Amino acid sequence: MRNQLLKFLVSLLILIDNCLAAVLPETLRRELKWGQVNILHTTDMHGWLAGHAHDKRYSADLGEFVSFIHRMKQLAQEKDVDLLVIDTGDLHDGTGLSDLTDPPGSWTNDLLTNVPYDLLVAGNHELYLPIVMNDTYHNFIPFWNGRYLASNVDIYDEEAGMYASFGEKYAVFETPHNVRILSLGFVGSFSGGSDKARVLSMEASLRQPWWNELQELKDIDLILIAGHFPVHDSSELDLLLLKLRKEFPDTIIQVLGGHSHIRDYAVYDEKATGLQSGRYCETAGWASIRGVPSFTSSKVNPISSYSVFSLFSPLINYPRKILEASYIFTNPSKFSRSYIDWNRKGFVFHSKVHESKFDTSEGLELSHQIADARRRLNLLDPLGCSPKDYGFSEVPRNASNSIYNLFESEIFPKIIVNKSRSHMPHYIILNTGGIRGGLQQGSFGLDELFQVSPFKGNVFYVLKSIPWFIVKDLPYWLEHSGYLSIFDKSSTLPGDSNTVTETLTYTKSEPKKVSYGYWTHDDMGDDGDDTIHLPVPHYDSGNYLCSKVNIHLDIEHYPQRVDLVTTEFVIPRLNYILNKLVGKALYTKEDWELYFWREDGRHSMTDLLALYADKYWDKECFSST
Ligand SMILES: *[C@@H]1O[C@H](CO)[C@@H](O)[C@H](O)[C@H]1NC(C)=O
Ligand SMILES: *[C@@H]1O[C@H](CO)[C@@H](O)[C@H](O)[C@H]1NC(C)=O
Ligand SMILES: *[C@@H]1O[C@H](CO)[C@@H](O)[C@H](O)[C@H]1NC(C)=O
Repeated sequence: MRNQLLKFLVSLLILIDNCLAAVLPETLRRELKWGQVNILHTTDMHGWLAGHAHDKRYSADLGEFVSFIHRMKQLAQEKDVDLLVIDTGDLHDGTGLSDLTDPPGSWTNDLLTNVPYDLLVAGNHELYLPIVMNDTYHNFIPFWNGRYLASNVDIYDEEAGMYASFGEKYAVFETPHNVRILSLGFVGSFSGGSDKARVLSMEASLRQPWWNELQELKDIDLILIAGHFPVHDSSELDLLLLKLRKEFPDTIIQVLGGHSHIRDYAVYDEKATGLQSGRYCETAGWASIRGVPSFTSSKVNPISSYSVFSLFSPLINYPRKILEASYIFTNPSKFSRSYIDWNRKGFVFHSKVHESKFDTSEGLELSHQIADARRRLNLLDPLGCSPKDYGFSEVPRNASNSIYNLFESEIFPKIIVNKSRSHMPHYIILNTGGIRGGLQQGSFGLDELFQVSPFKGNVFYVLKSIPWFIVKDLPYWLEHSGYLSIFDKSSTLPGDSNTVTETLTYTKSEPKKVSYGYWTHDDMGDDGDDTIHLPVPHYDSGNYLCSKVNIHLDIEHYPQRVDLVTTEFVIPRLNYILNKLVGKALYTKEDWELYFWREDGRHSMTDLLALYADKYWDKECFSST
């Protein structure tokens, strides 16, 4: 039923798109549903505090988001309900703004203290580098006064000579409307963390002494779990929910998740749901909850019930109402969710204020600080001119306009060259997670370099002269060894490729048409995105890139020995695969030698694109007129 409705709507939208574009408003937006306790959620921001300059769907900066929060708090006050703001980690690693500072993330962390968060939790990116952990621990976590949660994360505190909690194990607090909240914060297990970090598995965390304290807690009305893990298919979260249900069989539980960079919503049981709010400041997540028994309000009925639209309205004129109507079939419950596109117009729309009244002095001041920080980091200086758009997950990985293909077939073979070894056949290998975004046609600078690949610590090493019989199937095993888990790879856009109707081709949308963007399918249906888009195609990127250099294969002729070149991050993974292929622990970290090193220091993964542009592209874009 739902699928058919969806197909019908897609065709309807295409019909509208083609015939009636001129009379349609530029964007169709769904209203938010307010509850007694409402939550604005951010996750996996990865430094995009300045917004997406090249993409107006996600063009708001953090200052505008702060104005939005203030306006929504005013609305909450008028409705006499609660509004909380929560973040679930990975604040940096992704833009020049966050990653050019020393330590990385230190300026963006300062900027983020302007957001009135009620709860925060670390992501894995807060825990990779000792210097980042230390900075977060000393200069960011204390600011939050007990609201930065770390149920399963400890840091080795050198001064104290022992492990200390990376935030609070849990926090209990009460909202202005008499809702007593127990909050927990977890980071999903991941590999490659700093040796200063201790991240306990869920099983081990639940055996810690503090877990027993929870059983003593009385009168908990709502449990909030801030978790840097996906809301679906996370065995650690499943275990946590199972254990919590034993102690709190009847309490409403709201999970706020992250990490896999998608929009998603999970319904676990009648009183437990999870919201995941995308990535890169593209999404402000919204969750609302009704039916909290202790909730008190001066208003008799603070929230009017969800509106029910007639299915029988004339279709062409009321596409939005049709979409709203599907809501009542899929969600009769106490929960609602929405994925708000991160732009000023949407923020103004939901704030119910006139645009001229939208900005707050705090928001404007923060926008000003962000612009100033960008100038000081030279993010506005052009480094090169990209001759075309290089797409990320929205184009097939082997397409000529794919960013992965640009690296695999051009940048790696032409830039990562070591003269003393260039005669050797070699593979240049990188996990696809090492590339984080596409590149737009036109002028680009440091910010875009980090948006494509923020891993400026990652330099290239070589493992020399590996016999061909060992590595001949390596490209296959890179994909199928199973070692590279979902946690090493960051998935990107929502939905599977089957969300794309075959008749759709991906073109840049023109103004006044329904634009391409998120179209999310979750446990509550297809109506979660606040802005109605045509779905963007999504192609799987696979696990690894592998450039084959000087490797010419025919039946009589194949290389005897091959060099393997890869980044530090991948070395343990490659060793694992190679050792599996030879059947013993033959290769270790010590066997790898430095391969690509430059006097000027530009030899990391982040630098490659700029080095390539220096050689092959214009430095500045000249307009064609
Ligand atoms: C950790 O951060 C504190 C405060 O910024 C600083 O004083 C200390 O030197 C840092 N320690 C290390 C090992 O970087
Ligand atoms: C890309 O890969 C697909 C699937 O392997 C293949 O069918 C297609 O021909 C390839 N396209 C190009 C441009 O190489
Ligand atoms: C080339 O590779 C060798 C290891 O074989 C390394 O010692 C040398 O530093 C590399 N040269 C450059 C310029 O990176």
